[in-house]
Amino acid sequence: MAIEFSERIRRIPVYPAAGGYATEGLALLASNETPFGPLPAVREAIDGAIGRLNRYPDPSNSLLRRRLSERYEVAPSRIAIGNGSCDILLAAGEALLEPDAELVYAWPSFSVYPHLAAASGAHAVTVPLDARQRHDLPAMLREITVATRLAIVCNPNNPTSTAVPLAEIAEFLAEVPPHVCVIVDEAYCEFNLLEDPDASIDLLDAHPNLVLLRTFSKVHGLCGLRVGYALCGSDELPRAVDQVRQPFFCNALAQAAAVEALAHQDAVTDRVTRTIAERISVDERLRALGLEPAESQANFCWFTLGPDRDEEQIVTALRERGVLVRSGSALGSSEPALRVTYGLPEENERFLDALAEVL
Ligand SMILES: Cc1ncc(COP(=O)(O)O)c(C=O)c1O
Repeated sequence: MAIEFSERIRRIPVYPAAGGYATEGLALLASNETPFGPLPAVREAIDGAIGRLNRYPDPSNSLLRRRLSERYEVAPSRIAIGNGSCDILLAAGEALLEPDAELVYAWPSFSVYPHLAAASGAHAVTVPLDARQRHDLPAMLREITVATRLAIVCNPNNPTSTAVPLAEIAEFLAEVPPHVCVIVDEAYCEFNLLEDPDASIDLLDAHPNLVLLRTFSKVHGLCGLRVGYALCGSDELPRAVDQVRQPFFCNALAQAAAVEALAHQDAVTDRVTRTIAERISVDERLRALGLEPAESQANFCWFTLGPDRDEEQIVTALRERGVLVRSGSALGSSEPALRVTYGLPEENERFLDALAEVL
């Protein structure tokens, strides 16, 4: 007899993770990781924490929250830590949503968002992106009702790489009723040149319902350890997400690495500069191939392939040439499209040469 699972399990979509992890020698441009490894000082901090692995990690993540508080001038009680920012996102869904509640987000956007409604039984209201593949915030606002508990704005948006200016987010927040939690998912904010990545923090004081979701996975290059954080307008969400999760959700090595990573903002600036140089040159080469990449403010690009091209065939042909990219349809695109992370210069070369050959 087969095991009988809950109704929830039949609803929850399987996360479309990229493949290729077990294959050596591929240019890994499918998961929006950074090509730069952990800094030497971060490795040392991890080494230093290994000797204490017989002890549980600090359950309140106090040093990491203190360092984040100093860095962003947000009280530690208004900071949530997670086993990756996804952990905070899923916990927020659990704390906020239930059957008959509504959740509003744009689509295509981050592939974890559909999980929130499926897991809770809440109703997901998805709002199409505008013609420039950006969030349509006025349209999202129109979908907010008395039943809405959570609205998510992914800025810059995964998978389309675009960002909306902060002024538009501020206008949106001014109209959202205070009972609705607004998560602005800023996993890629360091790569956004539209404004200072820290400018959104000023909005927290005026909006107790605002949550800025951030991560050490991307620019800090620590996705293998899993650590993310949320800067919040009040202490309500940090308390709620701690209530629904297991204790000790953030491991000791991740805490030590994140604390050290925060002390190296110069490395962040250097990585962002190098990534943006690649962004400019890759996008230029894509345009020379007749493609029209969306205006990227992230560490990846997004472009449609045209209705006559076979997306899967192209993804497979690129893989055969040693380059792993993501197919747009797996990420919610209704037309053939690709999402490609900017890697090291030699990886980007390999991708562009392979793409030119395949097209
Ligand atoms: C928009 C967005 N938010 C959140 C995450 C989750 O990051 P992590 O759980 O590694 O912090 C990702 C990862 O790709 C992402 O693209």
